[in-house]
Amino acid sequence: MKRRSLLASLPAAGAGLLASGRANASAKTPNFGMGEKIQITDVKAVLTAPERIRLVVVKVETNDPGLYGWGCATFTQRPLTVKTAVDEYLRPFLKGKDPSAIEDIWQSCYVSSYWRNGPVLNNAISGVDMALWDILGKRAGLPVYQLLGGKCRFAADLYAHAAGRDPVEVEDNVRKWMERGYRHVRAQVSTPGYDGGYGAGAGKDAERMKENLPPGTRVFEPKPYVHSAIALFEHLRDKLGYEIELLHDMHERVTPAQALFLAKELEKFQLFFLEDPLPPEEVDFFRHIRAQSSIPIAMGELFNNPHEWTGLISERLIDFIRVHLSQIGGLTPGRKLAAFAEAFGVKTAWHGPGDNSPIGHAANVALDLNAYNFGIQEQHQFNDAAQEVFSGCLKIENGYAYANEAPGWGIDVDEEKAKKFPYPESPSFDQSWGNTRHRDGSVIRP
Ligand code: CO
Repeated sequence: MKRRSLLASLPAAGAGLLASGRANASAKTPNFGMGEKIQITDVKAVLTAPERIRLVVVKVETNDPGLYGWGCATFTQRPLTVKTAVDEYLRPFLKGKDPSAIEDIWQSCYVSSYWRNGPVLNNAISGVDMALWDILGKRAGLPVYQLLGGKCRFAADLYAHAAGRDPVEVEDNVRKWMERGYRHVRAQVSTPGYDGGYGAGAGKDAERMKENLPPGTRVFEPKPYVHSAIALFEHLRDKLGYEIELLHDMHERVTPAQALFLAKELEKFQLFFLEDPLPPEEVDFFRHIRAQSSIPIAMGELFNNPHEWTGLISERLIDFIRVHLSQIGGLTPGRKLAAFAEAFGVKTAWHGPGDNSPIGHAANVALDLNAYNFGIQEQHQFNDAAQEVFSGCLKIENGYAYANEAPGWGIDVDEEKAKKFPYPESPSFDQSWGNTRHRDGSVIRP
């Protein structure tokens, strides 16, 4: 039976209609009425770094020849720990199970380690979960967004990143994106005298602060940063007007009082959102920011599990939830989070940087197209090497991302080409975490 022809029979199928597998349902797996003849035969993590960013993707194989799925499990700062979790622990746990029992597999993987809810294990589950959705889509002959209920918009509006050493350079870079059709741009500027700021390079004269600090340290002080951010948006609104939507990422780093001050000062510049004004450890201060500023707040890329977002959303203390789907456990918790946030008027803005594989980006866009409360999508444009390893990357045009219309994610990973891009010896991407310090040497979070 051709896979596409399963489409009509899938929802109502008796076991016998899903015919191409061999053995009966595994004794390990409860039979929920579909797909019990197809079993998971192998699960493995594949490591590759075509952009020198360490990616982890998971392949789930089945006993149906040619039927397999891919998921994103990327945690680029600790990728080998995720590989261990997948290969050594989830692989034996999952072999023989029914790949269509996505919810059961998610729930059982989640408690299979007893200790749960954190990074590494959630990344590993995410890789498996997205791969199972890919398999289901391939069996149904449908892209994953269709399995969620279809599109309610034709494409996902993207935001691009513009940075510079001073406000004029940032303005030039914002204009470049505007000329390419983008309606949303995140703007970051260097802080003069410091090289530890987020999202833009070192400021002028950054070296003079470092006499007593270990080599490799980047230096950051919150107050000069706060003032450079205010000066940036004064300049951008003066030169660009108010039609272009501007975003800014504080990336934590300041005291709660400074975050409140900056939120109030930036309010008049009508940002699309202000991202991560506080670290997860300080979320109770959001109440105070909310009470004193109308600036829209985006939060959540470091979140791991519902304990961290439920209160912020249900009390309507943030406007955009922006978790990393590969961090919270994949598409399954992501679609629940989107629906939960919709009920409280909170929009989605899934984390979408380069340390998210093309499959992770495809999962973001599947939810972007389906969720009514979609807000905005952070973009990453994959280079030629990445597109060589991952065929079927999202199409980006005029500031929109379009889903791949092929079944599943529509993305295949060439494992031989993936091997051509091993992890770099000393990846530059994540070396600032833990090495960014105040002038007095105390470490910045994060
Ligand atoms: Co961010």
